[in-house]
Amino acid sequence: MTALRLRPLIAGNWKMNGSRAQNEALIADLKGRLASKPDLAADLLVCPPAAYLMQAARLVGGSAIALGAQDCHTKQSGAHTGDVSAAMLADCGCRYVILGHSERRADHAEKSEQVAAKAKAAHEAGLIAIVCVGETEAERDRGATLDVISSQLEGSVPADAAAGNLVIAYEPVWAIGTGRTPTPDDVAAVHAHIRSLLKAWFKDGAEMRILYGGSVKASNAATLMHVAEVNGALVGGASLKGEEFWGIALAAAGA
Ligand code: 13P
Repeated sequence: MTALRLRPLIAGNWKMNGSRAQNEALIADLKGRLASKPDLAADLLVCPPAAYLMQAARLVGGSAIALGAQDCHTKQSGAHTGDVSAAMLADCGCRYVILGHSERRADHAEKSEQVAAKAKAAHEAGLIAIVCVGETEAERDRGATLDVISSQLEGSVPADAAAGNLVIAYEPVWAIGTGRTPTPDDVAAVHAHIRSLLKAWFKDGAEMRILYGGSVKASNAATLMHVAEVNGALVGGASLKGEEFWGIALAAAGA
């Protein structure tokens, strides 16, 4: 069965990086590149830290660059000191929110059940949830990758998901920030597995985008982005450099 050709999404996860000056320079750089190629066959998304969302919303305004956040709470308001709700993110101009990133699963002991509740809150606020899954190196070494992905997906994806409000990001934990990537065959096997689960669970599961993330750079993007069932990238370090991020977008768009 051939995979549907879905419009790629190139998402920059800035993590805890940036400053007002750096954000301004980076978004201006991306806007300039996009203005010179308005027919780019890919969607661009930047996900700055929460503190900079309002600034970034102003900076991307009027361009085709979408804005996303890196986390949200399961509730829309209330006594939750230090947290930010999905409704607030939408109010600040976000269209997307990254959820269940392995760094949050590790740093904040987030469990899949909580990720599903956050995704549900995101959907209620009209946001598109980018739900992250990925195996550790130890899990990979003992041949448990597909089982880990199945259980993370089963636990983290809410029943109300549809192609219009859910993106999956497959990010092998051992490939994040390490410069190491799986082989194209390994990526293909995991993405095919994710696709088969999405198709089994959702009537429009064939149309949900599945991103690959983990050490994506301009120099390896063409290889990774042309693997079957890879519908874009979730980019960390390389999303902080305009030229690198743009190079990845061009590769994904086949430009
Ligand atoms: P790197 O691109 O820096 O490996 O990070 C990937 C990632 O975690 C994106 O969410």
